[in-house]
Amino acid sequence: MAIEERRACGLVTEKEISETIKVSGWVNRRRDHGGLIFIDLRDRSGLLQIVFDEQFNDFETVEKLRNEYVVEVIGTLRKRSEEAINPKLPTGSIELLGISIKLLNKAKTPVFDVNEETPVDENIRLKYRYLDLRRSEMQKNIILRHHVTMAMRRFLDERGFLEIETPMLAKSTPEGARDYLVPSRVHPGNFFALPQSPQQYKQILMVAGMEKYFQIARCFRDEDLRADRQPEFTQLDMEMSFVDREDIMALVTDMMGYLFKETLNKELPAEFPRITYDKAMNRYGSDRPDLRFDLPLYDIGPIVANTDFKVFKSILDKGGMIKGINGKGCSDALSRRDIDSLTSFVNVYGAKGLAWIAITEDGIKSTIAKFLSEEELAGIVNAMGGEKGDLLMFVADKKEVVHDSLGALRIEIAKRLDLIDENELNFVWVTDFPLLKYDEDEKRYVAIHHMFTHPNPEDMDKLESDPLSVRALAYDLVLNGTELGGGSIRIHEKELQERIFKLIGFSEEEAEEQFGFMLEAFSYGAPSHGGVAFGLDRMIMLMRNRQSIRDVIAFPKTQSAADLMSVAPSSVTEKQLEELSIELNLPEEKEEEE
Ligand code: AMO
Ligand code: AMP
Repeated sequence: MAIEERRACGLVTEKEISETIKVSGWVNRRRDHGGLIFIDLRDRSGLLQIVFDEQFNDFETVEKLRNEYVVEVIGTLRKRSEEAINPKLPTGSIELLGISIKLLNKAKTPVFDVNEETPVDENIRLKYRYLDLRRSEMQKNIILRHHVTMAMRRFLDERGFLEIETPMLAKSTPEGARDYLVPSRVHPGNFFALPQSPQQYKQILMVAGMEKYFQIARCFRDEDLRADRQPEFTQLDMEMSFVDREDIMALVTDMMGYLFKETLNKELPAEFPRITYDKAMNRYGSDRPDLRFDLPLYDIGPIVANTDFKVFKSILDKGGMIKGINGKGCSDALSRRDIDSLTSFVNVYGAKGLAWIAITEDGIKSTIAKFLSEEELAGIVNAMGGEKGDLLMFVADKKEVVHDSLGALRIEIAKRLDLIDENELNFVWVTDFPLLKYDEDEKRYVAIHHMFTHPNPEDMDKLESDPLSVRALAYDLVLNGTELGGGSIRIHEKELQERIFKLIGFSEEEAEEQFGFMLEAFSYGAPSHGGVAFGLDRMIMLMRNRQSIRDVIAFPKTQSAADLMSVAPSSVTEKQLEELSIELNLPEEKEEEE
């Protein structure tokens, strides 16, 4: 009997009933019914039930099978009896009657159940990543990721983009996050840096006449990690010549529509709403506002401008601000303990306290009402649309702290009030970012996006006289409160680039040393250009509704930037260090670690 090539377990259908087929995979589960043994066989495509009945002549092998053993089975496909049909499984109406079985490999008892999505400590998952990746949810993440990158390539190829690789061994630059450095053996004492992004190379590619570039590019940033940040992550990186902001935003909007339709069969709106940076900050306290709910910040500074309340007065006198949010129905829903926990919540963002006014059945209850005049109190309640049952919460501090803490509290309250529709995909463009901010530590201006970003031509005359008021031709795409990507129109004029370098405190020598090659390139006929880059990991995370980008990366690092499976980073031999002319100067080990 000639058996064709192996079939995928999850893709076998009723059409093949009575056919003899071959499948192979992992034993997902084995059930022994005395004389009748069932195994659920699992491969990437899904599960297929296999039955071995009294007719079968190799029970010795089948009885040995344990979870995760690897087998190859030949059998005849048949319909399941009516009562055995499992409507939850795509192959739930069929089963394979085993004719022969080959044990391909045994397996140790897995350290956690592969066949169930029970929660497992993440460090264990990362150490045994190959087992974790066998789980169905993880397989879905990785498979979707593949579909998304393939769709990106199709979309961009059809629009005339070229996929071009740029170096991994690149030059260290002073701005942005910390670099991962790679010592050079042949140039002792010199280092490459792994790229934080292909930014400079992609701009040079525009000077080189490539017109439309993209790359699914690995980027490296040695920064503090969070759930949506990895030291090594992937961007869909793009750059185009002879375009303006609108061209890029339109292309990206089309691309998102294509990607979500192709891979999730979800329709996105033909256009995404836009909000300026100023409005996003003032109204939502964040430049990546989650607009699945409104819950705005109210500025009550003007209402209490002449207040006697010391806390508010001293903040206003120092040029700070007082803003509040209205937790609808929270005065009933939240206990005193809950409110205390919200105070601790805003403390994390630097807020010194959380003042509140609860509008209850029995009138106003508040930590601050006794310090406010009746007019002030009524003015606040009125301005914030306060009604019976509401809890008004306030932070008084400098602008950054007020926005950070209330921006975060807004999301926390939305979660507690169940205002977030998990199925909604809320895209918004944030535009008109400021070009620069003032860095108090470094006592100089730094670029908000990056130093190649073009200032808004309307603000160009204020570049030296009032730099902080200059807007950039930059835009971010935000999805459900996460920054998916960002980009800008770039500077392509050598003189303007030099002006920006000067503004952010680079001497001519430093600019020449760091970016001389770019300035030189710009002097050979640089086209106008602009681009954008998306966090691929973040995108897949949101598409799959996961909480961490680690779940959509095959081999991610831990929060402390380590690979638990291969155990990296690790020490290297003396010889390797010698070849690199490197001598270690390690901090002394602490006693308790010995
Ligand atoms: P930016 O630094 O904003 O821009 O990065 C673009 C996008 O990359 C994602 N991202 C990250 N994802 C995971 N882990 C990280 N540590 C991490 N850091 C960033 C985010 C972010 O929006 N060269 C410019 C783009 C341009 O101007 O074209 C750049 O890198 O989703
Ligand atoms: P105090 O007079 O310091 O006891 O503060 C009175 C109330 O104001 C308390 O409920 C504090 O939590 C609150 N509070 C203190 N500082 C701030 C602040 N910076 N922002 C908002 N509320 C504050």
